[in-house]
Amino acid sequence: MKTTSTPAHVHLETFGCQMNEYDSELVRSLMKQDGFVFTEDRERADVILMNTCAIRENAHNKVYLHLSELKKLKRQRPLVVGVLGCMAQNLKEELTDIQPLVDVLAGPDAYRQLPMLIRTAMRSQEEGLDQKGLAVDLSEYETYHDVEPDRNDGVNAWIAVMRGCDNFCSFCVVPYTRGRERSRDPQGIIQEAHRIAAQGFKQITLLGQNVNSYRFDDWDFARLITAVADVPGILRVRFTSPHPKDFPLPLLEAVASHPTICKQIHLPLQSGSDRILGSMNRTYTNREYRALVDRILTLRSDIVLSTDIICGFCGESDADFEETYRLVEEIRFHSAFIFKYSERKNTIAARKYSDDVTATVKTERVTRLFDLQRNISCERNREYLKTTVPVLVEGDAKRSAAQGMGKSDGNITVIWDKSAVSSKPGDMVSLAIYDTSSTTLYGESPQLS
Ligand code: SAH
Ligand code: SF4
Ligand code: F3S
Repeated sequence: MKTTSTPAHVHLETFGCQMNEYDSELVRSLMKQDGFVFTEDRERADVILMNTCAIRENAHNKVYLHLSELKKLKRQRPLVVGVLGCMAQNLKEELTDIQPLVDVLAGPDAYRQLPMLIRTAMRSQEEGLDQKGLAVDLSEYETYHDVEPDRNDGVNAWIAVMRGCDNFCSFCVVPYTRGRERSRDPQGIIQEAHRIAAQGFKQITLLGQNVNSYRFDDWDFARLITAVADVPGILRVRFTSPHPKDFPLPLLEAVASHPTICKQIHLPLQSGSDRILGSMNRTYTNREYRALVDRILTLRSDIVLSTDIICGFCGESDADFEETYRLVEEIRFHSAFIFKYSERKNTIAARKYSDDVTATVKTERVTRLFDLQRNISCERNREYLKTTVPVLVEGDAKRSAAQGMGKSDGNITVIWDKSAVSSKPGDMVSLAIYDTSSTTLYGESPQLS
C-alpha cells in the first residue's frame, strides 16, 4: 500500500445515467484536490470505485458481477473497493452484509466525505483492520455548487442544475436513492457556463432528475435555460430529463425560438393507458400528454421528440398495452427507450401492486413496440435525406476511426467519411445527408452531393 509520499492511484468506473457520469466528474475533482491520482488501468489501482445505478434489475446485476471480479483482484493485492451512487444508497444493508469486499459505501450526497473515507479505509487495511467507511445520508441541500467538475470531454459539458426527485412515480427507485429535489443557485450556474465557454466547450447540457422542475427564488427553468443559452461561445444547449408536468409556455417558447437551445425534447411517456399512468403516479393522462405534444409541434414542427416507455407494469392488460402502442404510432417519436418493468425494492409499486405480467408477455410487448419504433425511427430519419444538417463534431465514430461522428441539433447521430470532410471535435459542419438508418444519418460535404 502507498505511503504518504506516493499518491494513491484510483480507478473509477461509471454505470447509469448522465447524472452519474456528471457525479463521477465531481468525484474526480474532489479526490484530485485531496492528492489522489486517477488511472484508466484497473491493474495499477490502489483504489477501485464503482459509481452505480439501481434503476432496473440488470443495472443492479451488473454491479454484482463487477464486484465478484474485484474479489479476485483483492485476493492478489491490497485494494480498497468503494461503491458509490444509487446502489450504495439503496442497498446499504445488503451491500455491507453480503459483500465483505466493499470497504467504502458513499451515496450521491456524500462525495465530499469520500477522500477522508478512502484514506481511513486504506489506513485500516495497512493496520490489518477491516474498518468500513459508510456515508449514505441524503441531504436536502447538497448541490455541490462550489465543486468544479473534472471534465474531460472537450465538446459537451454537463451542469447539474437540480438534484433529487419528489415525484415518486410508483415504479421508480430514484426518489429513494437521490432524495429530495433541490436546485442550485442560478448565479453559480451562469458563472460556470461562462467558464465552460472560455475553456472551449461548445455545448452545455443542463441535468437534473426533473430538470424542468428547477426553481430558485424567482428563477424557473425557462429563465435559467435562456440565461445559459445567452452565454457567448456556447453553440448548443440541451437539457435532460424533463417531466411532462413542467412545460409552461415560456419554456416551450424558449426551446422553439432561442437559436442556441436545441430543437429537441425528451418527453418520457411511460404508458399510453390512463389506468396505468394513474397507478404509475405520472400525474398526466393520455390526452394531456397528446395536448402537450400538439402544443410543442404547433410552436415548431421540427422539434425532435424522444421518449421512455415501460412495458409490463403491474396490472398492464393487453388493452392497456394497445393504448401505448397506438399512441406511439400516432405521435411518431424520433426515438424511444423501451424497458421491461423491473420491480425495485421499497418503491410504491413494490409495496402496493403485484408484478403480475409474466416475463414472456413483457418480452413480447417490448419486442412489438421496439419493432414499431424502429420502423418509425427509420421513416423519421429518412425525412432528412437530401437535406443539409448542421452537425456539432464530437470525435471519431465508434466503429471506425476513418469516420467522424457528431450530433444534429435534434440529437441524432451523424456519421461521415473523414477523408472527405475535414473537421475537428467542437467544429460545426454542414453535411448533406445521403443515407439513413433507424439510428444514424450518413453525411457528406454538401458540394459533393
Ligand atoms: N427522471 C427521469 C429519468 C428516470 S430513469 C424521468 O422521469 O424521465 C429513466 C427511465 O427508466 C424512466 O423514464 C423509465 O422509463 C425507466 N424506469 C425507471 N424505473 C424503472 C423500472 N422500475 N422498471 C423499468 N423501467 C424503469
Ligand atoms: Fe423516477 Fe418519476 Fe422521478 Fe423520473 S420523475 S426520477 S421516473 S420518480
Ligand atoms: Fe441509475 Fe441513479 Fe441514474 S438509479 S438512472 S444512476 S439516477
